[in-house]
Amino acid sequence: MMRLTIIGFGNQALAWSQNLRDSGFPFRVALLPESHSFAKTNNLGIETVIVGSKEFYEDSAFALLIPDQAHESFMKQYAASFKPGSIVIYNHGFSITKNKFNETFPNLSHLLFAVKAIGSEIRSQYLSNGKLGAVYSTEFVSDKEDVFNWLQSISKALGINIGLFKTTFKHETQADLFSEQGLLCSLIPYTADLMFRELIAQGIEPELAYLECWHELKLIVNAMVDKGPSGFYDLISPNALVGSEKGFNKLITPEFKSNLNNLLKDIQNNQFDQELDEANLKDLRESIRNRWKASPLDQTFNKLNQEPNK
Ligand SMILES: NC(=O)c1ccc[n+]([C@@H]2O[C@H](COP(=O)([O-])OP(=O)(O)OC[C@H]3O[C@@H](n4cnc5c(N)ncnc54)[C@H](OP(=O)(O)O)[C@@H]3O)[C@@H](O)[C@H]2O)c1
Repeated sequence: MMRLTIIGFGNQALAWSQNLRDSGFPFRVALLPESHSFAKTNNLGIETVIVGSKEFYEDSAFALLIPDQAHESFMKQYAASFKPGSIVIYNHGFSITKNKFNETFPNLSHLLFAVKAIGSEIRSQYLSNGKLGAVYSTEFVSDKEDVFNWLQSISKALGINIGLFKTTFKHETQADLFSEQGLLCSLIPYTADLMFRELIAQGIEPELAYLECWHELKLIVNAMVDKGPSGFYDLISPNALVGSEKGFNKLITPEFKSNLNNLLKDIQNNQFDQELDEANLKDLRESIRNRWKASPLDQTFNKLNQEPNK
């Protein structure tokens, strides 16, 4: 089986490494000489090489598991020295749709293999035999059949059991950015925060508001995903059923639908790419962290997760 070299050791790479190791799939990790992650790979007993070293270039299959914003400079510096025909795996289509590495490096095979989970869930679903999905694209791969067969082995070793589903780099990029912007990383956490604030302002105990607005999210999403949309609505109480219809009619307004549609348009017409280029990621991360650290929801979470149960 051809060995995979995972580049970086962040959220995804840690989970991929642990799952591949436990499944016996051959891999190693490549880190920059100045990386902060050597202690972590050493502690886990993972074979590690230095990016750019002679050993690094011995392999011909790499998974680029570093932040998307770092892909361009990384590829410019190292990819020209990859063996012709080498495979580069991307866990998100963004790099190719934006940087067009398929044009800059036509002698490499650019393979999309997007696992649809955050790193911590890739590990915990693997350990609990849970469900994990992934999509792929071989549109910029020369030896499609062999590469797909090899990818299926990696996918199995990672614990993927929904898919592999075929897509394109473009479709994966659009769907991923849209779900982050419209639902997963905006609507859910910020609506929970808003509702938590409303409840405590009305004198409701923060612990109760926390359970209602944050902790229960996890439990209800489990039921939604396990039972499917119609099965979920069959499960909920009459109060929840009538309330759900009221909330749906009041909240999902034409303006809301048009705002959602505009998010997708901005992704499709590359306006969002420009916004990403202009963003100061370090400052933004810091200001969002500070905003959440100051929120009563975050403070209640910390309190409940530090105190032993009485
Ligand atoms: N976050 C998720 O769970 C998630 C979910 C779905 C898809 N993805 C995709 O998975 C890929 C990896 O994302 P991630 O969140 O796992 O990455 P990440 O945790 O941010 O990656 C951190 C790793 O990248 C290294 N790194 C940072 N900047 C670098 C640079 N300029 N050059 C070389 N190495 C650099 C870090 O170096 P040090 O060792 O020095 O710290 C560290 O090892 C991305 O394509 C992302 O879109 C991520």
